Amino acid sequence: MTGFKALCLGLFCVLFAIHIHVPIPSNIEERWKVMALDAIARTCTFMGICFENIGIMKYEDLISMIFRLDYIEPLSDENITVTDTVFADVPVRLYLPKRKSETPRRAVIYLHGGAYFFGSFKQAGFDSLNRRTANKLDAVVVAVDYRLAPQHRSPAQFEDSMAVVKFFFQDEILTKYGVDPTRVCISGDSAGGRLATAVTQQVQNDLEIKHKIKVQALLYPHLQVIDSYLPSLRESENGIVVTRDLAIKLLGLYVSEDKTLPEAMRRNQHMPLESGHLFKFVNWSILLPKKYRKDHVYTEPVFGRTNYSFPALTDVRVSPLLANDSQLQNLPLTYILTCQYDISRDEGLMYVSRLQNVGVQVAHEHIEDGFHGALSYMTRPLYLHLGLRIRDMYISWLDSNL
Ligand SMILES: *[C@@H]1O[C@H](CO)[C@@H](O)[C@H](O)[C@H]1NC(C)=O
Ligand SMILES: *[C@@H]1O[C@H](CO)[C@@H](O)[C@H](O)[C@H]1NC(C)=O
Ligand SMILES: *[C@@H]1O[C@H](CO)[C@@H](O)[C@H](O)[C@H]1NC(C)=O
Ligand SMILES: *[C@@H]1O[C@H](CO)[C@@H](O)[C@H](O)[C@H]1NC(C)=O
Repeated sequence: MTGFKALCLGLFCVLFAIHIHVPIPSNIEERWKVMALDAIARTCTFMGICFENIGIMKYEDLISMIFRLDYIEPLSDENITVTDTVFADVPVRLYLPKRKSETPRRAVIYLHGGAYFFGSFKQAGFDSLNRRTANKLDAVVVAVDYRLAPQHRSPAQFEDSMAVVKFFFQDEILTKYGVDPTRVCISGDSAGGRLATAVTQQVQNDLEIKHKIKVQALLYPHLQVIDSYLPSLRESENGIVVTRDLAIKLLGLYVSEDKTLPEAMRRNQHMPLESGHLFKFVNWSILLPKKYRKDHVYTEPVFGRTNYSFPALTDVRVSPLLANDSQLQNLPLTYILTCQYDISRDEGLMYVSRLQNVGVQVAHEHIEDGFHGALSYMTRPLYLHLGLRIRDMYISWLDSNL
């Protein structure tokens, strides 16, 4: 076993040395940190795929193991009581301000990123984000651990998140935690942003849900799986930490075990014949501001090449960008943060356009030197400044608008 560990370490060092030479854009701040992070991510991905091919362990199990190194226990401090509990059978971490409040408090429900395969509210970055949100806003924060893929595929993540929202929106629960039902926000980053988007659409359009969401905050959200030739995906062949290839591998694995699906997705040939009508909702040649279209040429996907019958491919809960205009009309004030060097950049940008087109108020902030997932790297050992910037932009917007 020692020999095996030494071999792994040796392999890691060699791969790291190779990957540290991948160029990154010139305007990225803290260059060396980001290059090291990117090289580690590429090395881990490479090793994960090797281990899977040799039969040692599955790719996603290795990456989950690495994520778990970053988990921390609930720790209360002088201002906030932090506890892990369950809402409607779903694990949540609750942040409750200690000081007395004369009036009911604001509340934030947070859905973490991690491609639906990885991560938890226990990650140091998310724990620190949620604690700070509770502190700065004097708000109740509920962080949700929905079930993860591949053991649980769609719609498990959506169902768990909905279950938490419905549980929290019960009058006796709101009263118990001293929450003002007219001042509740749903937030999420990356895949969690996708969930927050889908849950908000559902809550606002469901007449049986009495209380509504006041604002949604979507941080570099990932919003669709049907078009894999968006400019931001094309530009991320060599993306920082998350490349197009990796994103498609995970999306494919999320939708199905079928090994031919990611290959079809890479060629944009994964959608069935009868899905053509959905592409107007993600037509970047219309919905994307000119600046981001650059000189990319719009190409229609090839339909019906494979005739997959995976319902997730056309499910609005998986691709909330596919909601029609009448469903978008009822959405609340929305905060969307996008990053320039990000596979899901154009999805966020197109959602901004689609919401504005139906008259929904949107506050959009774009980070020219930003890349995907930075909130996860703002704590030890990287203390990435970009993550702290995103955290502060998000919290200060919430403070003024929730
Ligand atoms: C608790 O709140 C006070 C006042 O807002 C602040 O100065 C202090 O840093 C907070 N403590 C922690 C651990 O965040
Ligand atoms: C997308 O927009 C272009 C115009 O820019 C149009 O030619 C094309 O038919 C549209 N495709 C879909 C699927 O809406
Ligand atoms: C997919 O289905 C359509 C219509 O049902 C059919 O015309 C087409 O040949 C099928 N393609 C494949 C690859 O099976
Ligand atoms: C929009 O989508 C909803 C839910 O799928 C559907 O009930 C409604 O008929 C659609 N509206 C339009 C105008 O297509």
